[in-house]
Amino acid sequence: MALYSEKVMDHFRNPRNVGVIENADGVGEVGNPVCGDIMKIYLKINADQIIEEVKFETFGCGSAIASSSMATELIKGQPVSEALKLTNKAVTEALDGLPAHKIHCSVLAEEAIKKAVKDYYDKNNIEYDPAIFPDDHDCEHCCGG
Ligand code: FES
Repeated sequence: MALYSEKVMDHFRNPRNVGVIENADGVGEVGNPVCGDIMKIYLKINADQIIEEVKFETFGCGSAIASSSMATELIKGQPVSEALKLTNKAVTEALDGLPAHKIHCSVLAEEAIKKAVKDYYDKNNIEYDPAIFPDDHDCEHCCGG
C-alpha cells in the first residue's frame, strides 16, 4: 500500500484555500517546535456566525499542507460552532488516513482553526467557555518524533 492516500497527494499537490484574508475576522497561528512547521488560518465570519471564507498559509510538510487544505474545505460554509468540533481525527479520516508518524501534522490544523475562532470570539467580545480551547500546542503530547 502506498504511504500516502490519493486524497493526501491530491490536497498536497493542489491545496484548496491557500492564501491570506485581509481584515480577517479571526486568525490563528500554531507552530510545532519539534519540526518547526507553522500553520496560519484566516476566517471571514458573517453576522450569523457562518464561516464565509477560509484561507491558510502553511510552512510545513506535505501532510500539514494536505491537512490544512482538507480542514479548510470541511469548515467552509459551516457555523463557527461546527468548526470548533472539527477534530484532527476527522481531518485524517477525510484524507483517507495519514501514516502514524504524520498524525501530529493534522493536529496543527485542528489547533489553528480553534485558535482562529478564539481570536474571533475575543475580538467581538463573544463569551465562551475557556475550557473549549486547549492550551497552546504542547508538542510533548502529540509529536513522538
Ligand atoms: Fe511538522 Fe508535519 S507538521 S512534520
